[in-house]
Amino acid sequence: MADLSVNICGVDFKNPVIPASGTFGYGREYEHLFSLEKLGGISVKGTTLKKRTGNLPPRIAETPAGMLNSVGLQNPGIDHFIEEELPYLLTKNTVIIANIAGADVEECVQIAEKLEGTQVHMIELNISCPNVKQGGAAFGTSCSMASQVTKSVRNATTKPLIVKLSPNVTDITEIARAVESEGADAVSLINTLMGMRIDINTRRPVLHNNVGGFSGPAVFPVAVRMVWQTANAVKIPVIGMGGISSGEDAIEMMMAGASAVQVGAVTFSDPFAPVRIISEIDEFLNRKNIDSVRDIVGTVKPW
Ligand SMILES: Cc1cc2nc3c(=O)[nH]c(=O)nc-3n(C[C@H](O)[C@H](O)[C@H](O)COP(=O)(O)O)c2cc1C
Repeated sequence: MADLSVNICGVDFKNPVIPASGTFGYGREYEHLFSLEKLGGISVKGTTLKKRTGNLPPRIAETPAGMLNSVGLQNPGIDHFIEEELPYLLTKNTVIIANIAGADVEECVQIAEKLEGTQVHMIELNISCPNVKQGGAAFGTSCSMASQVTKSVRNATTKPLIVKLSPNVTDITEIARAVESEGADAVSLINTLMGMRIDINTRRPVLHNNVGGFSGPAVFPVAVRMVWQTANAVKIPVIGMGGISSGEDAIEMMMAGASAVQVGAVTFSDPFAPVRIISEIDEFLNRKNIDSVRDIVGTVKPW
């Protein structure tokens, strides 16, 4: 067996595969399928300060090799997460990442402060959500808003801070550099791409929210490109995601510069995907006589 362990911001992961936020709940639904301890880590469903019921249905639609979602951050709120979900997750021997989101900077800070008193291992700050106090544009679409929220959350927590970037920007490297300079310990990318479909018989958008986030295998080349550009632009570790559905995809993402990967939409069509991908990474490394998965990070040889 190859050495699959990685270290990100001082946190040891037994392997580089992490179910992506919003696609794995709090892990409970998967425990009857496989032991959560097989996973490198778990990024849990995005948590806001208060409970949210999310958007009206329909809020999921299939697309060729992908899906659109407009779940709208449905979640039970940070207190429920800390009291009911985190103690269970912390009994598992895997890295627990709290994915957090807020409608303004203050909400993100308050969530981070509440997590400070817990044993959660890392925080992943989702900056793809709208900043309601600044016209509703997503924090992650402007350097100044991304900097401001990163700086404030940085000051509120001593936990390793991953900032999760939005791909819905002209130049993702500018945002990555901005959050790095405000103290992000790592960046993760990509979140979903904004998309839309219309039912031509009813002339209604297929999602009640009209638009939604596009993810799944169809977005993989976009994600690889953005991870490669970002890994070349920052010194902090990059966690890559977007369309990964096999161990070979994970290897490709790591060659582009990702130190670890997250696996999202594929889990809906193959619930065993995260553990399958771990063994496929191992098979690839053994086949190629590579001792450690760390040896492939950033090894793409651009023309
Ligand atoms: C149904 C669904 C819910 C999601 N919820 C969240 C969330 O709460 N927080 C977050 O940061 N990303 C969320 N995402 C984005 C994923 O974590 C991931 O960044 C994106 O789907 C790209 O990866 P994939 O193509 O492997 O799915 C969600 C994605 C899906 C499909």
